[in-house]
Amino acid sequence: MENFDKQTIDARLAQGFPLEHRWHNRFHLEMPFGLINDPNGLTYHQGAYHIFYQWNPLGCEHKNKCWAHVKTRDFIHYTLPELSLWPDDVHDKDGCYSGCGVSEDGKLRVLYTCNRKEDGVRIPAQRFGTLASDGSVRKEEIIIPDHPENITGHFRDPFLFTRHGRRYLIIGAQREADEKGTALIYEEVDGSWHNLGEIHTRLGDFGYMWECPNLLQFGSYDVLIFCPQGLSARAYDRQNIYQAGYIAGHLSLDSLDMVQHTKFQELDRGFDFYAPQVFEHEGRHLMIGWMGMPDKDGEYPSKEKGWMYSLTMPRELRLRQGHIYSRPAREMRDLRVKESAVELNNSLVSSFRQPLFAGSEILLEMELGEAKIATCVLHYGLEKLVFSYDREQQTMTIDREGMKKGGRGKRIFKLFADQKLSLQLFVDKAAVEAFFQHGEEAASLLVFPEKNIQPELEVRGDSPIKNVVGTVWELDSYK
Ligand code: FRU
Repeated sequence: MENFDKQTIDARLAQGFPLEHRWHNRFHLEMPFGLINDPNGLTYHQGAYHIFYQWNPLGCEHKNKCWAHVKTRDFIHYTLPELSLWPDDVHDKDGCYSGCGVSEDGKLRVLYTCNRKEDGVRIPAQRFGTLASDGSVRKEEIIIPDHPENITGHFRDPFLFTRHGRRYLIIGAQREADEKGTALIYEEVDGSWHNLGEIHTRLGDFGYMWECPNLLQFGSYDVLIFCPQGLSARAYDRQNIYQAGYIAGHLSLDSLDMVQHTKFQELDRGFDFYAPQVFEHEGRHLMIGWMGMPDKDGEYPSKEKGWMYSLTMPRELRLRQGHIYSRPAREMRDLRVKESAVELNNSLVSSFRQPLFAGSEILLEMELGEAKIATCVLHYGLEKLVFSYDREQQTMTIDREGMKKGGRGKRIFKLFADQKLSLQLFVDKAAVEAFFQHGEEAASLLVFPEKNIQPELEVRGDSPIKNVVGTVWELDSYK
């Protein structure tokens, strides 16, 4: 960790968020300065949701990893972010890496990976801590001091889960023998943690490292979410450098076999989504992802302004026939400034344009009729971001080529809409989240418009779209 002065950081944080810059988001969690990445320690505790996340307060590089912390009761109003956990002893001197949280005995405890390198050799330790009333995490016991023998130093991101009253961990890892990605399961027995071994899947050779595993239960199904690194792109899948996805099946904690599992499916189809974390509260599985991607920092211009990346809005996950549907948490509806709602109801639309707000939600239900291609464009003056559905190919294309700054390119994925295409867009200043076919697919991406202008929405078909019913809401800002 570089030299740093907590007081200076606290003083900068106390100034709140500068909203003036055109790329500062209004309803996506971000930091006024520094680089953020993975959401960490998501926990419902004593009436509030606690959200921690990786943060470098000293610059826009991937180093000096600390945990930032905010609290919310409704995902609309947040406390000001604070610096909660930072590298300050021998174990975590090279970073307080990702981990999870749990509410127990009236305390919020976090479990994180202490990143430490000695002569280039990684010595990862997994350690508990407790959130204190001043907002900082008190560092406590190390439960796993180093990686196991058959695993390399890439051993991190513990996630705690419970089955039949017993506690387990799943931890992302790289096998030493073939340098392939895997995940290990630990069980707590009388207060100490035992390595049960690797989870067994039928994925075979599946990348060189698995980061940020989550193990969830949906009814009788187990879902393993993880972020494999080193998979190559396919025609309609895996188009980002690293993936965030899942398999659903049945896990035996005796054999560690994940049986009858689905193929690996991605959780998000956009350019900027990685390292999601899920937590359960009152029967909901809520997920927050990082709107960013490792090893892509050079692409994004907010770096020059001193901050980078944001988190997604919370999404509620549902498992249906082996597929995860994700939709914005219902609380997001309270962001709507009702008076500004615009109702669209057009029959036989060949094209229409609609001005948007500084923050907007757009809900479109299109009956395609004769149209073979339905296109939805966000115009930022002469720049544009395009969503285009090709009914014959059954593909959705997200095209960022029309933006001058920031990452460009396209993402194309399969989407099965026959007569009706449903699209929900959340358009923030520099972050867009899209939900297709009521959450069957989702896409997160960053945009950096050159001008500080409110975008305009255009909907058009190659032939007239039979009917478009839609609503546009102005969304409030949490800042
Ligand atoms: C994923 C990740 C984690 C690690 C953290 C460090 O983005 O690389 O594996 O714990 O980020 O910031």
